[in-house]
Amino acid sequence: MKIAELFNVAGYGVVVTGGASGLGLAFTEALASNGARVTMLDIDSNRIDAETARLRARGCDVRGAVVDVRDHPALDAAFDAAVAAHGRLDVVFANAGVDSGPGFIGSWVGSERPRNPEGALEKYTDERWNRVIEINLNGVFATLRAAARHMRPRKAGRIIVTTSLAALKSEAVVGAAYMAAKAGAAHLMRNVALELAADNITVNAIAPGFFITNIGGGHAHDPALQKAVARSVPMHRVGFPPDIAGLALFLASPASAYLTGQQIVIDGGWGLGEVD
Ligand SMILES: NC(=O)c1ccc[n+]([C@@H]2O[C@H](COP(=O)([O-])OP(=O)(O)OC[C@H]3O[C@@H](n4cnc5c(N)ncnc54)[C@H](O)[C@@H]3O)[C@@H](O)[C@H]2O)c1
Repeated sequence: MKIAELFNVAGYGVVVTGGASGLGLAFTEALASNGARVTMLDIDSNRIDAETARLRARGCDVRGAVVDVRDHPALDAAFDAAVAAHGRLDVVFANAGVDSGPGFIGSWVGSERPRNPEGALEKYTDERWNRVIEINLNGVFATLRAAARHMRPRKAGRIIVTTSLAALKSEAVVGAAYMAAKAGAAHLMRNVALELAADNITVNAIAPGFFITNIGGGHAHDPALQKAVARSVPMHRVGFPPDIAGLALFLASPASAYLTGQQIVIDGGWGLGEVD
């Protein structure tokens, strides 16, 4: 088979939750710039408007809708509208997610990693916990369910969940709910992969390390932080959204037809351990 056929996503109908920023926007661009028709579902109407206009000006077939993944009936309706607009649903990225606020350690890297009293378990409020679980775990469940409702009758489809290195390895700077939600999303992905395999629907996860996006108010845009984190990454640099495009295209395309239930870490080796 030719490479062009293996990675051909032209004409595919695609939905990306959290598709208007960061990694979701990278998924949107990777698929749309290769001929797929992509709907970005996002809570941020300004970003949807700006990115839809920018990508359409480049000739991409994209549309957007304002949806909160916590509103499951609205999410279902947005899927119905996307399928009606594209005529088919081939690929879904369950990607929308939020940062969970401070963890119990106050600094990403460095010889001094002080305890942060604000992130201590005793101070962790139900409100903080529930918000992260509702978006990062329950939102993934609702997205997988909406995808299955459209894909199972066609007996074809690709579902890709954005988890995190935090699904495998605890990060003390990030709050506890994030660890639980991402590990939960990873195992939910495996269970859904098992159920949908007989229907020719693959379900996999991308587990990013440290990527520069707008998560958590965009703190990762700080060059000093990037430099400091890069020192602890074996490849000596942090990730940027375009770094994830190839993996997204692989998991969405015929190239990955026999791969399901897998979580692929993309982190420049960060999870392997510290060197240099
Ligand atoms: N940036 C990283 O280093 C990193 C690492 C591991 C995992 N992740 C995961 O990647 C995914 C994408 O995050 P990102 O880093 O690109 O951040 P981002 O903030 O740049 O993008 C996330 C998008 O999701 C949208 N969103 C947030 N809450 C929503 C909701 N309730 N309903 C619908 N849309 C919502 C936001 O408006 C935003 O457009 C998340 O699941 C995140 O946990 C990010």
